[in-house]
Amino acid sequence: MRAVSAGLACLYGTLLLLASGSTVDINAVVLLPVESTYLFSMNKIRPAIDYAIQSLAESRLNFSVRYLDSECGNKALFHLVDISMLQKPDVIMGPVCDYAAAPVARLASHWNIPMVSAGPLASGFVHKMPEYAYLTRVSPSYSKMGEMFLAMFRRYRWKRVALVYAEDFEERTCFFTIEGVHFAFVGEGYEIHTFTIYEEEDHFDHIVQQVQEHARIVIMCASSQTIRKVMLAAHQQGMTSGDYVFFNIELFNSSLYGNGSWKQGDKFDVEAKAAYQSLQTVTLLRSAKPEFYKFAADMKNRSRHRYNLSPEDDNGVNMFVEGFHDAVVLYAKALQEVLKQGYSKTNGSKIVETMWNTTFEGIAGQVSIDANGDRYGDFSVIAMTEPETGNQEVIADYYGLNATFELRPNVRLLWANGMPPPDEPSCGFTKEHSATCKSCGLGESAVTGIVVGSLLGCALLLAFYLFRKKYRITIERRAQLHEVDNGKHHHLREDSVRSDLSTA
Ligand SMILES: *[C@@H]1O[C@H](CO)[C@@H](O)[C@H](O)[C@H]1NC(C)=O
Ligand SMILES: *[C@@H]1O[C@H](CO)[C@@H](O)[C@H](O)[C@H]1NC(C)=O
Ligand SMILES: *[C@@H]1O[C@H](CO)[C@@H](O)[C@H](O)[C@H]1NC(C)=O
Ligand SMILES: *[C@@H]1O[C@H](CO)[C@@H](O)[C@H](O)[C@H]1NC(C)=O
Ligand SMILES: *[C@@H]1O[C@H](CO)[C@@H](O)[C@H](O)[C@H]1NC(C)=O
Ligand SMILES: *[C@@H]1O[C@H](CO)[C@@H](O)[C@H](O)[C@H]1NC(C)=O
Ligand SMILES: *[C@@H]1O[C@H](CO)[C@@H](O)[C@H](O)[C@H]1NC(C)=O
Repeated sequence: MRAVSAGLACLYGTLLLLASGSTVDINAVVLLPVESTYLFSMNKIRPAIDYAIQSLAESRLNFSVRYLDSECGNKALFHLVDISMLQKPDVIMGPVCDYAAAPVARLASHWNIPMVSAGPLASGFVHKMPEYAYLTRVSPSYSKMGEMFLAMFRRYRWKRVALVYAEDFEERTCFFTIEGVHFAFVGEGYEIHTFTIYEEEDHFDHIVQQVQEHARIVIMCASSQTIRKVMLAAHQQGMTSGDYVFFNIELFNSSLYGNGSWKQGDKFDVEAKAAYQSLQTVTLLRSAKPEFYKFAADMKNRSRHRYNLSPEDDNGVNMFVEGFHDAVVLYAKALQEVLKQGYSKTNGSKIVETMWNTTFEGIAGQVSIDANGDRYGDFSVIAMTEPETGNQEVIADYYGLNATFELRPNVRLLWANGMPPPDEPSCGFTKEHSATCKSCGLGESAVTGIVVGSLLGCALLLAFYLFRKKYRITIERRAQLHEVDNGKHHHLREDSVRSDLSTA
């Protein structure tokens, strides 16, 4: 009975659409920052949306798009509300900035309107129900990148890590990036130590020393200049001879790390080149197909002719440009499907449901959206393969859809012992700890009384050490929280975007 009526509805809908031959008007709102410093500023994304809509010309969908300045903040919500007084949009695209996107996503759920965007990338948006239930993310979020690290850590049998990020107190890109790793690791019971760089100081000896006391695998997010300084400091502390592995996350501008980011033309180049042997860079896996090159050329031409951008202004097609193109394609595809089944374009939940758990052909290759409405991410790892010239190349790839981390064949890996180092020294970390270890070793070879005695001693020392460490970390955290909470940056409070890292 139900199937029959559904079938009838479907038939009726199709007939209606075919008989009338009419177009369906789609009223879309795009929320992006006008300021051109962003990789997803309005002028960079607009040509991609135009291109996608043109490619849909035969689909009978008549898009009219309104572009609003998100200002990468609360204005996104205000502008959306203002413009919706007379008529609500059918679909919302953007924002990308996390603090702009959160209230817009909540409103979209309340209004039952699909929101499709190449962001926001923060892990907090993984929890779709109930407030972000209408949000579909067409670019891989930071938690997908965290899954890549998880696959890598499992493969290399690493279980403890230092996370180092630069805090800018504004958009907090590095905070959210590192949070993605934390998000993936925290359920695994890994030992995680987090360190924050508050200023781009000249020396990073202090941070490097702290890292040295706690971990051997280090994941960092900071500007390329800061990364270089950290690596130089690590080099001076003797941490670049193979016992430590440093990762640097540079998702969007990997050209920076492709070749010679160690090279700055200053007196530290030689040291930096040596230090960078211990550095690997994580970036997006970029794919391309013939159609993509046409798209890229068109983007260049459009931005030059229509928006008078100089060639230096555009850095080519990045993940966000691709993402917004694919967002239009995904929405259009889902909408057609839903109309075909006899539902209306205002049935937001049905459209959202159709967009999730699907694979479709994006501009650069296949795009897969998981059952939670987030895109699966593919990532690459770049490392130095020629110590003499300092050349770097891709050594491994991660495919999100089948969650496999694969080393590229025929690349020269510069692991000191031919394999990844263990994640802790054979005798634990700090000095006291290794001393305890040694006395344990002696005890074992001595008479039973001494064994028992020294074991007890070890246990006591260990307990003391653990207790002290825990205590110290609590203090550090409290101090950090206090600093963040002192009112100066109140607009960044956690009630805006729920965060895993700062409440840890
Ligand atoms: C497309 O939409 C615009 C604005 O809503 C309208 O003016 C135009 O007539 C529509 N075009 C078609 C072919 O329906
Ligand atoms: C990306 O890196 C290149 C090469 O260093 C640089 O010229 C460009 O400004 C960077 N782009 C962005 C958006 O940071
Ligand atoms: C670095 O340069 C070498 C030689 O110029 C080239 O073979 C290699 O592909 C480059 N690596 C990257 C990641 O651009
Ligand atoms: C570039 O854009 C201009 C103006 O929109 C157009 O006339 C020209 O044909 C385009 N060139 C290419 C190669 O697409
Ligand atoms: C929207 O679609 C769902 C099926 O996914 C249906 O149960 C619901 O009644 C529809 N709502 C409207 C307003 O058509
Ligand atoms: C996703 O789709 C596949 C088939 O396309 C289906 O087997 C699976 O149950 C779906 N998952 C969810 C969570 O809906
Ligand atoms: C995972 O997917 C990638 C890309 O689709 C493919 O190249 C690779 O062989 C797959 N790996 C496994 C183990 O299925």
